[in-house]
Amino acid sequence: MEMEFVVIVLGLCISCAFILTTFSMLGVGKPKNLPPGPTPLPIIGSLHLLGDQPHRSLANLAKTHGPIMLLKLGRITTLIISSADAAKQVLQKQDLVFSNRHIPDALNAHNHSHYSVVWLPVSTQWRTLRKIFNSNIFSSNSLDANQHLRRQKVHELIAYCRRASESNHSVDIGRAAFRTTLNLLSNTIFSKDLTDPYKDSGKEFKELVGNVMVEAGKPNLVDFFPVLKNIDPQGIRRRMTCYFGNLFDVFEELVKERLVMKKLKQDDVLDMCLKINQDKPDEINRTHIKCMFLDLFVAGTDTTSNSLEWAMMEVLRNPHTMAKAKQELAQVIGKGKIVEEADIMRLPYLSCIVKETLRIHPPVPFLIPRKIENDVKLNGYTIPGGTQVLVNVWAIGRDTTLWEHPLEFKPERFLTSGVDVRGQDFELIPFGAGRRICPGLPLAVRMLPVMLGSLINNFDWHLAASIKPRELDMTEKFGITLQKADPLCVVPTPLN
Ligand code: HEM
Repeated sequence: MEMEFVVIVLGLCISCAFILTTFSMLGVGKPKNLPPGPTPLPIIGSLHLLGDQPHRSLANLAKTHGPIMLLKLGRITTLIISSADAAKQVLQKQDLVFSNRHIPDALNAHNHSHYSVVWLPVSTQWRTLRKIFNSNIFSSNSLDANQHLRRQKVHELIAYCRRASESNHSVDIGRAAFRTTLNLLSNTIFSKDLTDPYKDSGKEFKELVGNVMVEAGKPNLVDFFPVLKNIDPQGIRRRMTCYFGNLFDVFEELVKERLVMKKLKQDDVLDMCLKINQDKPDEINRTHIKCMFLDLFVAGTDTTSNSLEWAMMEVLRNPHTMAKAKQELAQVIGKGKIVEEADIMRLPYLSCIVKETLRIHPPVPFLIPRKIENDVKLNGYTIPGGTQVLVNVWAIGRDTTLWEHPLEFKPERFLTSGVDVRGQDFELIPFGAGRRICPGLPLAVRMLPVMLGSLINNFDWHLAASIKPRELDMTEKFGITLQKADPLCVVPTPLN
């Protein structure tokens, strides 16, 4: 009897799956007027088309199906936006309905997504957190006030490179940039270093942040087949729970340490958060504060350090760009000096190099996934509720209708164009746009030129003898951010 039951249930399941798949392939029950897209295979949909460079594969598919393309990734209906015009529709004209997030399963560890500004839906809690970010942490006044905390870190980066040059060692630019960015952020947030370039003491914190990046960047079966959620077949949520827990312990210690000091006068983010928590405890509690720190480190480190590595890579591949940048720096601040945040305004060519790097190597190629709750009309198409929305910023930065010779690294294109990265010009949106635009933008556009300009202005950089600039390996590795597959290691010679 039992056996019969199992066979009947199995039979019913297979029949249902077959009927559902057939109906879905025939379009039965679907809203009319869906955007075009590749025909899905049963069960996997179009997952097989992604490959290991989904930003490239989807850019190619968009050439056939258009800039508003719908596909099925496993069980997840996904809308791919691949033009500046369509991005403007989604991120500006209909911003509100496209502003919630599609949450990867790993981010549910410790219920992080319930407290995190990155993953909360647009809501009162999200607005409160964004207000703290915009008015207290990343406002010009706050960033000016704690600039001294970052200045020292750039001096230490240059000292580290100087030591490498004395022993004729190469510098792994990505690693040095990651460490410096981590310390720039930890000084902005806690007024202290959490990692030391010469010692192992800060290694654990750096590794924890690194591990979070690795897990978050792994393709997770659960994100395509939510039915596997409880099984967590790759163990990603399990490991993430462990890393988040360890990071929260570090943050808890730092909070306790500061509360014991009893005077909040460091002008850093921790002071600000504790003060808001004291004055308005219903706005943010201790869990919000710890989740906020996690967000700041996860969202701020890889993005910034990868951009710096790509920027160095591009100036090394393009010696005339390097020469022009050196000339501008020598004229404006003097050879061998460290760039200050206040100098950036007077270094237009350096700022153009940063923009051009973000155009051609956007660190977050699909922005952070959005989601719509209900059916939405977009350019005459109907997008079904529940759809995940990815904006392929990488493809937009290479659109030949927007950019002349898009594959060439030409910072000069920005000298006269006025196009900026701040979310108003949809051909260049590496930080996103609309209400979900990256709140860390004002800090990133200070840190990047300061680090890049200081590296260029203090050293000549040499590739290994056998490598010619144009032969540098430009292969990308897709993950939470778009990294260089092969680390850039170069030997510095001091300029003075
Ligand atoms: C080159 C550096 C950076 C790039 C390219 C970048 C890019 C992005 C992008 C594309 C988004 C999603 C925007 C959207 O959905 O429209 C985002 C969100 C976010 N970024 Fe950044 N980011 C950078 C640096 C930073 C830094 C330094 C911080 C903070 C220390 C930061 C904190 C955040 C946060 C908290 C969010 C989530 C905002 C929300 O969902 O409301 N980012 N960033």
